[in-house]
Amino acid sequence: MTEQLILTEERGAVGHVILNRPAKRNALSMEMLTDLVTALRQYEEQPSIRAIVISGTERGFAAGADIGTLGSAGPIDLYTSGFSEKWDHVAAISKPIVAAISSYALGGGLELALTCDIIVADMTAVLGLPETAIGIIPGAGATQRLVRAVGKSMAMEMVLAGRRLDVEEALRCGLVSSVAAEGEDVADKAHSIAEQIAQGGPLAVTMAKAAILESFETSLSAGIRYERTMSALISASADRKEGLEAFSQKRPPLFTGR
Ligand code: COA
Repeated sequence: MTEQLILTEERGAVGHVILNRPAKRNALSMEMLTDLVTALRQYEEQPSIRAIVISGTERGFAAGADIGTLGSAGPIDLYTSGFSEKWDHVAAISKPIVAAISSYALGGGLELALTCDIIVADMTAVLGLPETAIGIIPGAGATQRLVRAVGKSMAMEMVLAGRRLDVEEALRCGLVSSVAAEGEDVADKAHSIAEQIAQGGPLAVTMAKAAILESFETSLSAGIRYERTMSALISASADRKEGLEAFSQKRPPLFTGR
């Protein structure tokens, strides 16, 4: 029987996607990334799902892009195969994604977490970019996304010197925003954050995510114009009307995402 590389599980309004190649420490092969993107796109299309968690197994989040895939591919294969673009496809999901890291998140595994919106980790987490040690450089966005997450000096140390961060260091430099308590499953910790997100107006959450991501792409004044436009647009939504009414009637809102 072939191994299922990606598992999914719905818990209320949260879709869980589990990377499942423990024998290879979840090294990300083409097949696995294709299945990951398929699972995420299914949740993207499913109105009942309002936030997503990506986690690994007890053997780690993901120890990188599959070195076998990288080793056997020539430059034209790498350029045309769409392998690196898989990370862009994850980044293009409009619903919020929380990455739950236990044990190794290295190379392409950390790059996957960097395409997510929030990163939580447990005490066993090891986050790093060891590519230069094997004579290559990050190819799935880390030289751009990491510097925006942790600043120049730390990004340089991690990429050039292969510095690996433990959870305390990752928390201090803002790479991780929450830590699972001792004995708490990191996927459960991520779930509680995703569940909180899922209670918000779905349209508001999606627009707020888009506005924050816009800050990485544009100038401050253009970003603020974008925010203002989104903020005006959402005033026409049924969710805004429902949210305000529910507040004044002291009841929980019933959002429809319209
Ligand atoms: N690609 C392909 N296979 C990988 C892999 C990767 N990125 N990372 C781990 N594996 C495989 C190992 O080859 C090994 O396979 P095998 O049992 O068939 O020999 C299996 O996963 C277990 O890994 P192993 O190295 O035996 O575990 P460990 O506990 O001794 O070390 C790591 C764990 C993560 C420190 C080590 O596997 C490692 O350094 N991996 C590569 C990290 C890396 O350079 N990532 C960037 C790639 S772009």
